[in-house]
Amino acid sequence: MSSMGSTPTVSGLHERPVEENQVAEKAQQVEREFAGKVALITGGTKGIGKATALKLADRGCNVVVNYFRSRDAAARTTDELKERGVEALAVRGNIGNSDFHKKLFGRIRAEFKQLDIFVSNAALGAFAGVFDVDEKTWDLAMRTNAKAYLFCAQEAIKIMPMGGRIVALTSLGSHRCIPGYSAIGVSKAAIEALTRYLAAAAACQRVNVNAVCGGFIDTDALKSFPNYDELLEEVIHRSPLDRIGTAEEVADVVVFLCSEGANWITGQTIIVDGGYSLT
Ligand SMILES: NC(=O)c1ccc[n+]([C@@H]2O[C@H](COP(=O)([O-])OP(=O)(O)OC[C@H]3O[C@@H](n4cnc5c(N)ncnc54)[C@H](OP(=O)(O)O)[C@@H]3O)[C@@H](O)[C@H]2O)c1
Repeated sequence: MSSMGSTPTVSGLHERPVEENQVAEKAQQVEREFAGKVALITGGTKGIGKATALKLADRGCNVVVNYFRSRDAAARTTDELKERGVEALAVRGNIGNSDFHKKLFGRIRAEFKQLDIFVSNAALGAFAGVFDVDEKTWDLAMRTNAKAYLFCAQEAIKIMPMGGRIVALTSLGSHRCIPGYSAIGVSKAAIEALTRYLAAAAACQRVNVNAVCGGFIDTDALKSFPNYDELLEEVIHRSPLDRIGTAEEVADVVVFLCSEGANWITGQTIIVDGGYSLT
């Protein structure tokens, strides 16, 4: 096919116009943007964590998922990750237990040598009004959500020699009063404050640190709310977009923060709630 008098072509690339080939190459780069990279996602076997794991794997990232209780969900997740042509490893352990962090990061070092992305996603907490919070309820939320984020981030940064990304999950309870959510809400506020401290300190190592604050998202965690049906109705009624969010919609923002497109974003908390908090 001659290119005379028409758009020039590149031979060997199906003789598509040069611009088309450039677009195709760019699309391919974006598609496999995380090829060869390694991500750790705590709580990566269900809900938002799993959606994030699969989206990163779709773009070529090798993924380590941590979980605590459900071996079946972990096995299903690693199968789905491997089907995407990447390496996948599930490590069982309570992220709220500091002794477990050594084991987790030891496995990552042994299997992958380094880390590029750390998503602090696993969370636990019990429901109680602020005057009913006892020490056990307070410690559970702070230990599993905020403390684990800090100490895992410290370990993660040690094995990010090429720079990297850290993203933590928070929720609207960090800055709004959600009935029964006090201890968890405060632990999420701590995560947002930690994000700023970590971002400032990690910048010299080219590690960007951000948080994603989700609105109400239909996952197992939300179903554990004592008044789930009532809550669902109220959320849908109040949401400008007239529905509840999905795990994938939050995961899209987490993945964006891990991408090159977010190079200039650090220390921020991005609210992903379909406008719920505006009303
Ligand atoms: N759903 C929402 O409405 C919503 C809104 C805003 C923010 N978020 C935040 O998004 C994150 C994920 O929530 P989700 O709704 O996707 O939760 P989810 O569907 O309940 O999944 C939680 C994941 O965390 C794991 N996990 C729980 N406790 C753990 C522990 N101590 N150690 C290790 N892994 C643990 C679970 O594994 P096992 O079951 O095997 O233990 C599971 O893989 C949380 O930080 C949550 O606060 C959620």
